[in-house]
Amino acid sequence: MSKTNIAVLGAQWGDEGKGKIVDLLTPNFSAVARYQGGHNAGHTVYADGTKFVLHLIPSGILHPGVTCVIGNGVVVDPLALFKEIDELARMGIAVDGRLLVSEKAHMILPYHRELDVLSEARRGERKIGTTSRGIGPAYEDKVGRRGIRICDLLGDRAALQQEVRENVSARNRIIKESTLDWKPLLEQLISSGERMRPWVADVSLFLARTMQAGKAVMFEGAQATLLDIDHGTYPFVTSSNASVGGVCTGLGVPPRAIGGVLGVAKAYTTRVGEGPLPTELSGELADRLREGGQEYGASTGRPRRCGWFDAVVVRYSARINGLDALALTKLDVLDGLPEVRLCTGYRTPNGTLSEFPADLRALAAAEPIYETLPGWSRSTKGATRLEGLPPAARRYIDRLEEASGVPCAIISTGSDRGETIVRPGSIVESWFT
Ligand code: IMP
Repeated sequence: MSKTNIAVLGAQWGDEGKGKIVDLLTPNFSAVARYQGGHNAGHTVYADGTKFVLHLIPSGILHPGVTCVIGNGVVVDPLALFKEIDELARMGIAVDGRLLVSEKAHMILPYHRELDVLSEARRGERKIGTTSRGIGPAYEDKVGRRGIRICDLLGDRAALQQEVRENVSARNRIIKESTLDWKPLLEQLISSGERMRPWVADVSLFLARTMQAGKAVMFEGAQATLLDIDHGTYPFVTSSNASVGGVCTGLGVPPRAIGGVLGVAKAYTTRVGEGPLPTELSGELADRLREGGQEYGASTGRPRRCGWFDAVVVRYSARINGLDALALTKLDVLDGLPEVRLCTGYRTPNGTLSEFPADLRALAAAEPIYETLPGWSRSTKGATRLEGLPPAARRYIDRLEEASGVPCAIISTGSDRGETIVRPGSIVESWFT
């Protein structure tokens, strides 16, 4: 069992395969803790041929004995949480006794979902392409200091009633045709609180005690750095800090608790929803990646936009998060391509850009500068050793590491746990010994 607490987070625009990596590393940890996002996430894990899709519950849940923690930085839709728990129970995974939900986590309420849909409709062509789960409006209420937290459900009833009444009437003022009744919502919240009661905890205290006892914690990110509210492609982002800063605020742990940061990146790039994607492909090649990688949203089923690996993006993620290493996923999807490309910079009307710009207009005007490398025809699927990869695939990884400035400690060659290369002597090994 390791002693180093690590963060595992997305280095691109999400859907990098964090679920598989978290599940793979979980046996080295005593607890896995989600620090932000909500059920907009869709973390797919294959265990012994069975597919599990997790939205809110950390991807460590498939390992008995590991405590899974939902932090205060997460926004929780109680009904979505119950649905996920019931689904896991149906598949033989019991969460009781090893699921903790922060008493400080804010809730997603039915009107948040409606407001999300309404706000997207209002933006028209400028829509964000959200998952329509109410994530943004729930965080808006949190920051606006009118949110309802899980501890509010378990405390003073009169105070809760007043909060719910005020929130519902405010919403009825915004949505003209809406006549939502606060009473059934209050009842639903009270019964949700009762079901959640056994799991509700002071998560920061639990994690502090776990770490003090010499046990290690894995901090699990959702979405990814380029979807981070501060560091992503704003406004085409999610409403939380998916990058490493979110660990401290979203769980109540000090920065020094984070002993290592593992960025998860695909061997190419995908994005779901609107917003810039400099290396985006269209036509046959995009279809080839989409079908080969089954690039359809785990939460919404939407087809993902696909493009070449962008080292500018991953370099930027490395800087923001202090990435120690990468877990490179879906290498096998590139098998059989005559050549592979990676973007090392952007050409703009004002010269070359080697750093990721904040202004989306600058990004829209940027043309990727590509390096083209020979592809490989031999399959990499299921390889478990670096030596098992075709030389051209190894060359691609070497070049990708140089251009991104981060070593690949883990290379995923398929969706199952076993289809993984852990590089001998990499920092990841040192975390677990
Ligand atoms: P929201 O998080 O539903 O508000 O959506 C904001 C943006 O983040 C949209 O572009 C979504 O497609 C994207 N997004 C949210 N969750 C995920 C995810 O788990 N994977 C990939 N993209 C996501």
